Amino acid sequence: MSFSWAKPYEPKHPVMRWLDERLPLPRLIYGATGGGYPVPRNLNYFWNFGSIAGLFLTIQIVTGIVLAMHYFATTEGAFNSVNGLIMRDVNAGWLLRYAHMNGASFFFIAVYIHIFRGLYYGSYKAPRELVWMLGLVIYLLMMATAFMGYVLPWGQMSYWGAQVITGFFSAFPLVGEPIRVWLLGGYAPDEAALTRFFSLHYLLPFVIAAVVILHIWALHIPGSGNPTGVDVKDERDTLPFHPFYTAKDGWFAAAFLLVYAIVTYFAPNYLGHPDNYIPANPLATPAEIVPEWYFWPFYAILRSFTVDFILPAKLWGVLAMFTSILLLFFLPWLDRSPVRSGSYRPVFKRFFWLLVIDVVILGWAGGGAPTPLRNALGQMSAAYYFLHFLVILPLVSAFETPDPLPSSISDSVLHGEAAEAAPAGQSKKRRGSVATAAAE
Ligand code: HEM
Repeated sequence: MSFSWAKPYEPKHPVMRWLDERLPLPRLIYGATGGGYPVPRNLNYFWNFGSIAGLFLTIQIVTGIVLAMHYFATTEGAFNSVNGLIMRDVNAGWLLRYAHMNGASFFFIAVYIHIFRGLYYGSYKAPRELVWMLGLVIYLLMMATAFMGYVLPWGQMSYWGAQVITGFFSAFPLVGEPIRVWLLGGYAPDEAALTRFFSLHYLLPFVIAAVVILHIWALHIPGSGNPTGVDVKDERDTLPFHPFYTAKDGWFAAAFLLVYAIVTYFAPNYLGHPDNYIPANPLATPAEIVPEWYFWPFYAILRSFTVDFILPAKLWGVLAMFTSILLLFFLPWLDRSPVRSGSYRPVFKRFFWLLVIDVVILGWAGGGAPTPLRNALGQMSAAYYFLHFLVILPLVSAFETPDPLPSSISDSVLHGEAAEAAPAGQSKKRRGSVATAAAE
C-alpha cells in the first residue's frame, strides 16, 4: 500500500549522502520511525507503553553501568559497596541507586500495562503472533535479570530470595539438585553465585535489547494493531509516525517520568522490603521471605499447592508457576475468535476484567506471609487463572457473538465527531451506530 504523505528518505547534507551510500543506517531508522512509517491514526494511550518500556530499558542499562563501576561482587564487599560506598560516598550515588532500583519497578509497571493492553486488544492474534512471543521471551529475560539484580546488594532478602528461587529446581526429581548446585556453583548462595549473578545481570539487558530489536522488526512487517482491531484499508486510516506519534510518545514519556521521579525522590524504598537493609546472614531466616512485588502473582501460584498428590506439592507449585507463563505462548491458538479487539467482544471483555481482578488478588496473596485467608484466596485465584486461559477463553471464542465492527479505522474515528451531534440522552453505543450510519 502506498501513502501519499510518505516521503522517501532523501539526505540533504553531503555527509548524510556519503553515509547513505556506504552504510544506510539513517535510512533504516527513517523507515522505522520517521515520516516513512505509517501508523493507525486511532491509537490510544495504551499504545504508548512499548516506547515507555524501551525508555526504561535504556535507563536501567545506563544507571546499571555506572553502578557497576562502584560495586564489589564479593560476599564481603557487596553489601557495603551498595549501602555505604554508593549511597554515601559516590557523587549522586544515592540517586543512581534509587533510580535503578525504582527503574526496575517502573519498567515492570510499563511492561505489565503493555501486556494487558495486548490481552485486551488481541494484539497476540495473527499476524502478530511472533511479536507477542518475542515479547514473552523479553518478559522471561526481564524476570531472570530482575531476580539476579535483587541478589546483588547481598541483604537478607537477596540471600533468602536466592535460596528460595534456586530451591525451585531441587523440586525436580534426580536432575533438580545437580542443576541447582550447578547454577549456584555450590550448595548454597555464596561467592560463586554472587559473581555469576553479577556477570549475567550485566549481560542479560543487552540480550533483552537485541530481542527488542527483533520484537519491533516483527511488528513493522504487519504494522501496529489498533483499538478497533480492524486492518488498515487505505491511507486515510494512517498517520506518519513522525511527528504525530513522536510527539504523543514524547509528552506521555515526560508525564510517566514525572511519576517515576516523584517515587524515586520521595518514596524510594516504598516498593522494596526493609529486610534488604540487613546484611545477608545464612544463619538467620527472615520472618517472611517475599520476592519483589512484580513476582507476587507467580509466588502465589507457587505456594498454592500444599498437599502431595502423585507428585510432591512443591513440584506441582513449580510446574504450575512455569506453566502460567508458558501457556501465554499458546494464546494465539487458545483464543480462536476472528475479532481481535476486546471492545467488540461483549463476553470476552467481562472475562478480561475478571482476569485483571484475579491477578490483583494473586498479587495480594503472594505478597505477604501465608495466612489461612491468603492461602485460600491464593488457591482459588490460581485455579481461576488456569481456568481463564485453558477453558473460558477457548469456549468464549467459539460461542460468543461479537458486536458489529466499524467498516474501517477512519469510520471509527468519525464516530466520535459525529456522536457530538447526536441528541443528548442516547447511549454511547446508540450514538456510535447512528454515527456509523451517517458515515456510510
Ligand atoms: C523491554 C520490553 C519491551 C519493549 C521495549 C517493547 C516495545 C514495543 C514497542 C515499541 C511496540 C510498539 C508500540 C506499542 O504497541 O506499544 C510494541 C508492540 C507490541 N509488544 Fe512489546 N515491548 C516489550 C515487551 C513486550 C512484552 C513482554 C510483550 C508480551 C508478552 C509484548 C508484546 C507486544 C505486542 C503484541 C505488540 C504489538 C501491539 C500492536 O501493535 O497491537 N511486548 N512493543
